[in-house]
Amino acid sequence: MNFRNESLGAITSFQVLNNTIEGEAGNRKFRLTPYNHNIVRVQVSKYETFDEYPFSVVMQPENIATKISDSSEEILLTTEACEMKVSKSPFRISFYNRQGELLNEDDPTFGISWLGEEVTNYKSLAQDEIFLGMGEKSGGLNRRGSSYDNWNSDAFGFNNDTDPLYVSTPFFIGVREGRPYGIFLDNTYKSHFNFGTSNNDRFSYFSASGGDLNYYFIQGDTVNDVIQQYSKLTGTIQMPPKWSLGFQQCRYSYYPDHEVYNIADTFREKKIPADVIYLDIHYMKDYMAFTFDNERFPNPKALIEKLISQGFKVVVILDPGIATKKGYGTYDRGLEKDVFVKYPDGTAYEASVWPGNSHFTDFTDKKGRDWWADELKFYTDLGLEGFWNDMNEPACWGQDIPDMVEFDYDGQQVTHKKARNVYGFQMVRATYEGARKQIGNKRPFTLTRSGFSGVQRYSAVWTGDNVAGDDHMLLGVRLVNSLGMAGVPVAGYDVGGFVEESSPQLFSRWLAVATFAPFFRVHSMVNVRDSEPWAYGEEVEEISRNYINLRYKLMPYLYSLFYRAYQNGTPINKSLAVDYTNDPEIYHGNAQHEFTLGDWLLVCPTTSQQEYAKIYLPEGNWYRFFTDEKVIGAQHLVIETSMEDLPVYAKEGAIIPLQNVVQNTQEVHDGEMKLHIYHGDVETSQQYFEDDGETFDFEQEAFYRRQMTFNGNEKRIVLSEKEGNFQSSFKRLKVYLHGFESTEFQINGQKADLSTEDIRLIEPVTEFDPLPQRDKKNYLISDINFIETDFIDSEIEIIWS
Ligand code: GLC
Repeated sequence: MNFRNESLGAITSFQVLNNTIEGEAGNRKFRLTPYNHNIVRVQVSKYETFDEYPFSVVMQPENIATKISDSSEEILLTTEACEMKVSKSPFRISFYNRQGELLNEDDPTFGISWLGEEVTNYKSLAQDEIFLGMGEKSGGLNRRGSSYDNWNSDAFGFNNDTDPLYVSTPFFIGVREGRPYGIFLDNTYKSHFNFGTSNNDRFSYFSASGGDLNYYFIQGDTVNDVIQQYSKLTGTIQMPPKWSLGFQQCRYSYYPDHEVYNIADTFREKKIPADVIYLDIHYMKDYMAFTFDNERFPNPKALIEKLISQGFKVVVILDPGIATKKGYGTYDRGLEKDVFVKYPDGTAYEASVWPGNSHFTDFTDKKGRDWWADELKFYTDLGLEGFWNDMNEPACWGQDIPDMVEFDYDGQQVTHKKARNVYGFQMVRATYEGARKQIGNKRPFTLTRSGFSGVQRYSAVWTGDNVAGDDHMLLGVRLVNSLGMAGVPVAGYDVGGFVEESSPQLFSRWLAVATFAPFFRVHSMVNVRDSEPWAYGEEVEEISRNYINLRYKLMPYLYSLFYRAYQNGTPINKSLAVDYTNDPEIYHGNAQHEFTLGDWLLVCPTTSQQEYAKIYLPEGNWYRFFTDEKVIGAQHLVIETSMEDLPVYAKEGAIIPLQNVVQNTQEVHDGEMKLHIYHGDVETSQQYFEDDGETFDFEQEAFYRRQMTFNGNEKRIVLSEKEGNFQSSFKRLKVYLHGFESTEFQINGQKADLSTEDIRLIEPVTEFDPLPQRDKKNYLISDINFIETDFIDSEIEIIWS
């Protein structure tokens, strides 16, 4: 049989049921469903029934008013936000915004096509079209000219061109003539995306090796609108426990127990703040999940309790492979409950991984997830609340699981071909749900290597086994920025590099950059040099402490950004493509790695060996964060850079709530909110959010929330009245006034005393003999004006003249 491309022909029949247009074109079935004014789902199938993908989308179609009209040539579906035209002969779709401007259209010749089982949608490619997102994908910020596969893989030591990696999110954002839209291909088979590669820009396309064409088209006025709509579809994060925003130390592996005690003590002795220490696979007996090695860890409960008393949480690694050893309780119970993935002949699939011969839990089956949830009690009884889910692509030695292996997939009974990409996602779901079941009202922390669209509802993602090198550091930043555009706002990379060894310069630069990442963890491989903040000599130790201190100062701001991500999916680290989409300069050079933490703090990662670096500041006025030097944006700058001095800028209008340094997130701060405001002729706002940081009580209004607004033209700062029933931990408010010329301030109608102070947002390295060849910088912001008042719950209005 010789397959030729078969593209979808003319519509032969259709009907409209509520808002859904359903019919046939050629001998294929199609269904078009608006989910809200901005989202339309497109399904086309060559099978008898539409294929179901039950894991990613949590949104139900809303009952909205649409207009559907029909002429001899086309069907027109109009919502408040967009318009979809379906030409009848042949079936081709095009999408427009409410101004009638084209956003996206099928390629007129090929449209939707099949090659055997593989379905492809060809789209016309506009000359200036930009492609963003795709989540954890290597390559540059603009995906134009690149192509990608989605097939979750154990990509040990990956580099700038490796594809695929561990996580698949078949979702991209296109920008056509400056107008963004999104397309999410909800199909869990291996999929392929081509953004004009090897076809001389004839078209872009996406395909799936099996199943239906099942995609969601998203209209958004801005890139962030598209991300928020996608987050409505696939869900947002859970509020994480606050301790997971702190600094985390990992290695493969800390053992035996006294090594762990030692690491914990050293952090506290050296006054380097930290919240988490990890146990990698050596904690287990012969790498068997749900065990502790009795010799290395004779008393895990005492260890965990001791660390808790020092303000640490312990996170343990969990792998999905279960050793096939009779008498190993987990295995025996798994067999009894029949939870393992099988061959079509009913025998359990077996492959080798860390614990030797293993079976693999079928996490796509509720039965498997429930069993896993019960097994987790082993850990939660010991006081553990954090679980690191690894090897869940799933990985096994040889990395070639036979495609015939079967998975439940919510009762569908499918093969590896359809299930692989959601395996890790469902594993970490099982872990998250299991932990919730076991630890009641407390928020668990879960971390995963593998995932699929929607994984953000259950877990943070780390980018796997990277390599110690400047390129890898920058790649990690792009991966995190890109995951943010794919609805996964909580992500990070192994600081210092997992494979190979960092130089002192690289380690300190990497750690400085990661200070601003949502997930902040140092990790390194077995048999490499020590990689704690103190392991690279005194200078690096001091630089590390300074940046980790800054991380803890940023906590009120950072936590508020996590809350916003929970509310609507806005990324915590925003690639410049999110807010400065139509500035062509951001798609080249260093600007591709740059990001903002929240809306205000621009971080420009520069490499460790550079003495000078070229960076780009987007439009607007900026203040160098550590010195207050004012710089005009929309320009490239060449700046001096040193090991301790990461280029970070605050934008005019920035509203950044900070606190004093604490040694871990559970330590109580000094009660003074240090609110930094950066003057400009702009109007801005920042949400402030606080709660207990550890329970779900915030869902019952036990939170403290207020809007902080700045208006440079009206000369006014307002902290709105608080919402929610939680008592803030802050008692005093100190407002630092960056770049304000005026000296006459009033707070709630009373003249405010203006005082001055010298401050440092980052400390210079001073504690030991500096390297002779370089001047040490002083980051003193001298004579900064501030005003202060009680942090009252009612409105606080600050005006100036
Ligand atoms: C995998 C993980 C890595 C971990 C190692 C041992 O390679 O990606 O982070 O340290 O396994 O568990």
